[in-house]
Amino acid sequence: MSTRNERKNRGEAAIKVLVVDDEPDIRELLDLTLVRMGLSADCVGSVTEAKRMLGENRYRLCLTDMRLPDGEGLDLVRHIGEHTPELPVAVITAYGSMENAVSALKAGAFDYLAKPVSLDKLRNLVKSAIELPQHGNGDSPSATQALLGDSPAMRQTRALIERVARSLAPVYISGESGSGKELAASLIHRLGARREGSFIAVNCGAIPETLMESEFFGYRKGAFTGAENEREGFFQAAGGGTLFLDEVADLPLAMQVKLLRAIQEKRVRKVGATAEDSVDVRIICATHQDLKALVDQNRFRQDLFYRLNVIELRMPALRECRGDIPLLVSRILERLAKVAALPAPQLTPAALSALAEYSFPGNVRELENVLERALALLSGDVIDVADLHLAGAAQDSVEPLVALPGDQLQLQEHLDRVESQVILDALKKTRFNRTAAAKLLGVTFRSLRYRMERLGLND
Ligand SMILES: Nc1ncnc2c1ncn2[C@@H]1O[C@H](COP(=O)(O)OP(=O)(O)OP(=O)(O)O)[C@@H](O)[C@H]1O
Ligand SMILES: [Mg+2]
Repeated sequence: MSTRNERKNRGEAAIKVLVVDDEPDIRELLDLTLVRMGLSADCVGSVTEAKRMLGENRYRLCLTDMRLPDGEGLDLVRHIGEHTPELPVAVITAYGSMENAVSALKAGAFDYLAKPVSLDKLRNLVKSAIELPQHGNGDSPSATQALLGDSPAMRQTRALIERVARSLAPVYISGESGSGKELAASLIHRLGARREGSFIAVNCGAIPETLMESEFFGYRKGAFTGAENEREGFFQAAGGGTLFLDEVADLPLAMQVKLLRAIQEKRVRKVGATAEDSVDVRIICATHQDLKALVDQNRFRQDLFYRLNVIELRMPALRECRGDIPLLVSRILERLAKVAALPAPQLTPAALSALAEYSFPGNVRELENVLERALALLSGDVIDVADLHLAGAAQDSVEPLVALPGDQLQLQEHLDRVESQVILDALKKTRFNRTAAAKLLGVTFRSLRYRMERLGLND
């Protein structure tokens, strides 16, 4: 039951937005739209007035034009970053002026709108901004604790994740295989304004080229033989959420062009459709390859790279955070032991120092695999150096594959061991890049993933 008084109280607590634009027409349009959304707007026409209002009021969003009579919208973005970093600020840029939008995002802007302002996009942006977690609600930044480690590099990484989670800027996550790129991407999603939407992770290297367009953008009924029903693509599935383009370097050039267009226009066209639909997704991408180098070799489009790489998050390699190894080891063992309903085993000091010195080309994933294998084959209750089977170590002599199975070994068990070993070797050779390992083994990515799951070789 809601009395007039309660409604009035709610009205008084209306969410406030600060609008900064020197053109009265635009101010009026923004004001009207915001009020229709049940928000209240303060409208000013200069940087000076905006700063004064910011000092006197509490806003949930600031929308500012880029060029103002007494300064740049960018100054306001920086001012807010210094004084009220919790407040999302979005900039309105002149049509086609992508450079402005990118520099605003780099300076910490939440998002941007291009002129002429589309009311749909404006409403989406406003909704996202007011859904940002406020202090003490939603998934707290402690969620980033899922990313273990106390080393300075890992602390910095967590801080950057928390910061970029509060914007919609595209993020490019670089880093070696197994260094936690996907984990970081999912944290950015979980901590951000779009946490209620879907997080769709796409391995760009695992989709056959001929299916790419329909997988990304969907298709209409009858678009091609076999298209019996209309289907959504990744972009539609990630609507209101986050689209994570993993192994983005594996995208063929033709698809890069289409992706660039979709990101630029925030519109996609289903295969077989005549009209485009607008889509609202946050893009995060990752690759273990050096994307900049691929750009220099003309294997990755410069313009797409520029669009994706607005904010770079580099995941440190495990060997840069050696101090974190003991903590990771104990947490991973705890988790594995819990699954197996066993007490977590201890490592001998020699085993711990072997891990601390090892180079970990496959990073945390490799550490997980090493420990999982050690646990699976462990007979006693302590893990020693030999149980780790570290590559390159003296005791790395895994039983030869051709050796006949011991008396009790059943055929399936023997075959599984052989298969595991062959897969692990391929993974090592490709520095734990599953796409490349699948190629090396002559199986599809899906088949490799299935086999790894069956053999318990996965994360
Ligand atoms: N700092 C960390 N703390 C805890 N777990 C981590 C950390 N970094 C990575 N992991 C774990 O390591 C495994 C590999 O991480 P993830 O899949 O995110 O790596 P990646 O960089 O995407 O690898 P690839 O390049 O092979 O795709 C996952 O199980 C993840 O949970
Ligand atoms: Mg990954």
